[in-house]
Amino acid sequence: MREEIRKISQEEMLLQQSFAQKVKDHPNRPQTYYIVTYGCQMNAHDSEKLAGMLRQMGLTPAADRREADFVLHNTCCIRDNAERKALGNVTWLKEVKKDRPGMLIGVCGCMIQQPVMAEKLLKQYPFIDIAFGTGNLYRLPEYLYEALTQKERIIRVDANASTLFEGLPVCRENSLKSYITVMYGCNNFCSYCIVPYVRGRERSRAADDIVREAESLVAAGAKEIMLLGQNVNSYGTDSENGVSFAQLLRRVSKTGIERIRFMTSHPKDLSDALIDEMAVNPVIAPHLHLPVQAGSNRILQMMNRRYTREHYLEKVRKLRSAIPHLGLTTDLIVAFPGETEEEFLETVSLVEEVRYDSAYTFIYSPRKGTRAAEMPGRIDPEVASERIERLIAVQERITGEILSGMNGQTVHVLVEGTSRRRATQLTGKSERNINVNFNGSECDIGKIIPVRITGAGSNTLRGEKEEE
Ligand code: SAH
Ligand code: SF4
Ligand code: F3S
Repeated sequence: MREEIRKISQEEMLLQQSFAQKVKDHPNRPQTYYIVTYGCQMNAHDSEKLAGMLRQMGLTPAADRREADFVLHNTCCIRDNAERKALGNVTWLKEVKKDRPGMLIGVCGCMIQQPVMAEKLLKQYPFIDIAFGTGNLYRLPEYLYEALTQKERIIRVDANASTLFEGLPVCRENSLKSYITVMYGCNNFCSYCIVPYVRGRERSRAADDIVREAESLVAAGAKEIMLLGQNVNSYGTDSENGVSFAQLLRRVSKTGIERIRFMTSHPKDLSDALIDEMAVNPVIAPHLHLPVQAGSNRILQMMNRRYTREHYLEKVRKLRSAIPHLGLTTDLIVAFPGETEEEFLETVSLVEEVRYDSAYTFIYSPRKGTRAAEMPGRIDPEVASERIERLIAVQERITGEILSGMNGQTVHVLVEGTSRRRATQLTGKSERNINVNFNGSECDIGKIIPVRITGAGSNTLRGEKEEE
């Protein structure tokens, strides 16, 4: 399967702007919108673009989805439960629509981009008015215009998800911490994963476009930028611009932004140049999300991860010797087809060896069309639950030990707001991406300030503001 990368021309983008204007001028257009977002940061950022387009068309956000004229679900299909949740909520809205027949229901994102989905929607979900895949997100104005002017439902899913476009308006959720997508898609085809099928081939944005976006965010008051991609370490390898991810990080760090994070890094593509850049560049936060997935070489091979346990541990050793205070986090899958108790214990022992700050743990979920879905040796759900619980217990203990070991240290917190529990408490994230709560005044919100750690909860730190 070789998808062509299709760069969307400026003319096509301008055409969408003219559709946006037509929607805005349409007497029966929806006045308000509500976007429901599932899935990863990439999807969250796509929703910011969808919101940007909707604002351009004159719609304003509704406080509740039941009151919105247009409800758009930006879906995820990474695991079965993500998909079920999205479909469950769309179906629930059907009842609301009975009382408000003018309401438009839209569904977009990864779930829609799956091969058989468009057909399924047409047949089983007749109350959905608009559906489109990840590759044609930029065409929302056109689809909304069609929905307003035609009688039929608008189901638009191109088989090719590999489009690359610039210049969409973005309505950002958070003005302090902003996302920038540096690359779209994934070429890795890990055997369990649906993402390469629903997000298309790897395509990198031009470094100049990324730097310009960072500069405008800095000018608008952003303190932290998170660079996004499924596999940021292979940034640039698909294009001729000759800029590697390490070089891109350096360029973005010179825009005046105070802190940069990025995700996700694939261990096989983590270069020495990137490690060196992280070690010398104070703007790059000393935090790395480095998904390992499993600790057994046989399982890693079955997963098509293309590194061994030993390679991974060697990268961790290099990282820690170059960046001593580095916080590592990871993703782990238990109960991959055929995983034995011994192989599961190798994941546990790797977690013990690396000592991650925290980990996202998942039970393997078969995804139709992926190679692992055809593999024999499905693990009994009870065994899977029992394994994940044991793994979580080990990680929780390690997180607790790491957090209590930080007592007395000074960390630097980007203050995001007051704590949910107490209004006199401020909350934010340390450079290692750990939540920190401390007493302070609201005038510190939006600043990066030093905080001395005085205690720890199960996954948060407590501290006191240090006088400078
Ligand atoms: N691109 C990132 C992660 C994308 S998905 C990376 O390569 O690391 C986020 C996480 O979901 C993955 O790291 C993996 O741990 C998990 N995941 C993906 N497919 C899954 C599946 N079929 N079942 C269970 N977990 C899955
Ligand atoms: Fe999925 Fe693997 Fe690509 Fe990550 S690197 S998105 S896990 S295929
Ligand atoms: Fe889900 Fe798509 Fe992200 S499948 S995890 S929303 S890339």
